[in-house]
Amino acid sequence: MKVIAIDGPAGSGKSTVARRLAEHLGLEYLDTGAMYRAVTFAALRRGVDPADADDIATLVPQLELEVGGDTVRVDDVDASIEIRGPEVTRAVSVVAANPRVRADLVRRQREWAQSRDGGVLEGRDIGTVVFPDAVLKVYLTARPEIRAARRSKEVSDLSYEAVAADLARRDALDEGREASPLTQADDAIIVDTSDLSVDDIVAQLAGRLP
Ligand code: DC
Repeated sequence: MKVIAIDGPAGSGKSTVARRLAEHLGLEYLDTGAMYRAVTFAALRRGVDPADADDIATLVPQLELEVGGDTVRVDDVDASIEIRGPEVTRAVSVVAANPRVRADLVRRQREWAQSRDGGVLEGRDIGTVVFPDAVLKVYLTARPEIRAARRSKEVSDLSYEAVAADLARRDALDEGREASPLTQADDAIIVDTSDLSVDDIVAQLAGRLP
């Protein structure tokens, strides 16, 4: 099984790089952050408090999640737009800190890759927890102001300052949580994407494949 793990904080360029690398290698791509967002979306929609660990843990196994390309469906409802909205973005960190949510989604991520004999998976814990035996582990970073500028371009209704503050808040939550915190795997290739083009990064990573 040929699994490529791409981890890093929000705005580090994970999605762009993971998509392009998958295309380049003829593999499928999975955005695992979209799965945590989809669970959060389902909770909000059903009036379940994202911070209620027991209620969320009961909800997750019941959900039918379909993540493919740019489309995310939860119980057959297209949630592709809403999962990127401010409500979900605000609440997703607490859902992602829930160990029982993580256990369920990690199982689904492993099944996704096994059924395809590999793929490019992007997230926070892919190289450390989900696929510690991945053939290639990548940890992307970028300077905080670059990451905030990238995110501001995607969310036009928030100021740069608001986006930068939200990124700092989410970094602290993702890095500080007890369950699978965001951290670099010892054997990951670390790339600072601040001043590199996507083509250069993809070429560099493809060249590191065994
Ligand atoms: O990459 P993103 O911003 O769409 O991720 C949404 C949230 O999910 C973010 O708070 C980190 C969390 N996440 C995680 O804990 N583990 C993953 N494998 C992917 C995302």
